[in-house]
Amino acid sequence: MLDDKILEVLRLGGDSYVSGEDLCKDAGISRAAIWKRIEKLREEGYEIEASPHLGYRLVGLPDSLIPSEIKWKLGTKVLGKEVISYKKVDSTNDIAYELAEKKMKEGTVVFADEQAHGKGRHGRQWVSPPKGGVYMSCILRPDMAPSEIPKITLMAAVAVAKAIRVLTGLTATIKWPNDILIDGKKVCGILTEMKAEQDSIDFIVLGIGINVNTSAKALPKTATSIGAELRAAGKDEQVSRIELAKNVLETLEKYYNVLTKNGASPIIEEWKELSAMIGSRIKVVLPKRTFEGLAHDLDRDGALIVRSDSGVLEKVSSGDIVMVR
Ligand code: BTN
Repeated sequence: MLDDKILEVLRLGGDSYVSGEDLCKDAGISRAAIWKRIEKLREEGYEIEASPHLGYRLVGLPDSLIPSEIKWKLGTKVLGKEVISYKKVDSTNDIAYELAEKKMKEGTVVFADEQAHGKGRHGRQWVSPPKGGVYMSCILRPDMAPSEIPKITLMAAVAVAKAIRVLTGLTATIKWPNDILIDGKKVCGILTEMKAEQDSIDFIVLGIGINVNTSAKALPKTATSIGAELRAAGKDEQVSRIELAKNVLETLEKYYNVLTKNGASPIIEEWKELSAMIGSRIKVVLPKRTFEGLAHDLDRDGALIVRSDSGVLEKVSSGDIVMVR
């Protein structure tokens, strides 16, 4: 709290120095205590200039998904009110799951700058090199039946695609159920895990991984990163992982509220608009069989309706989709 106060005063100071005296007054602590706090903030990655006559000035922010950066001017009411950050973990989903079991409240978000064993769907690995992307897991406690969980993942896909579009101007699209693609390559994956009773959800861990600066060499052939796509589009601007994470939280909260208040149909409509695949030829890979057809529609539960080559409409509730050219 005290660190947040000091940071706030320094941030408001902009390019100007803030005198030690003013900092002491605003934070309500002694000069020696301020000095200790400034040292601690520097260890976290804040670049703070100190001048004996002028005071302190904030000249650089850490490139880390830490609470003080995520929470600064975050426009949410619930999501991200509690932020827990790590430099390196095995999987943010595992940490969030443990916290949720210990009754951590809805809206808690776990971030990491690196994952040693990032988890993907169907037991795959999610490549998560240091500061290569946004790796985050949100604890949600919706008043929904377990069978409604696909609606949460579709909602999250809509929110992330929108956030990426707004922040970067890149045309992010959705591939069923919740992969986010840019130029046909995957930039984001979503892994939803849940604990539930027979007919009610206890909690959901919504894990989101977005490749931001990950090099193509580290990623599977079918994947890309936002930085690479911006460079391919001739833009050399950097995408801030912090800004992206904040945008995702704000957009996610907006669509989560829509889903819980108005139901899934507005989300499904937006999903269809953002999806690149309705009307396209696809291959459906199920555990025991594979078939090709045309992606026909999304039903109101979020299942994909596929018109198979034999003309039959098939409902696909889980599985992998491959786009066929
Ligand atoms: C997929 O396979 O498409 C889902 C990938 C989900 C990756 C994210 S990164 C943050 C969170 N923690 C994990 O271990 N996995 C999810």
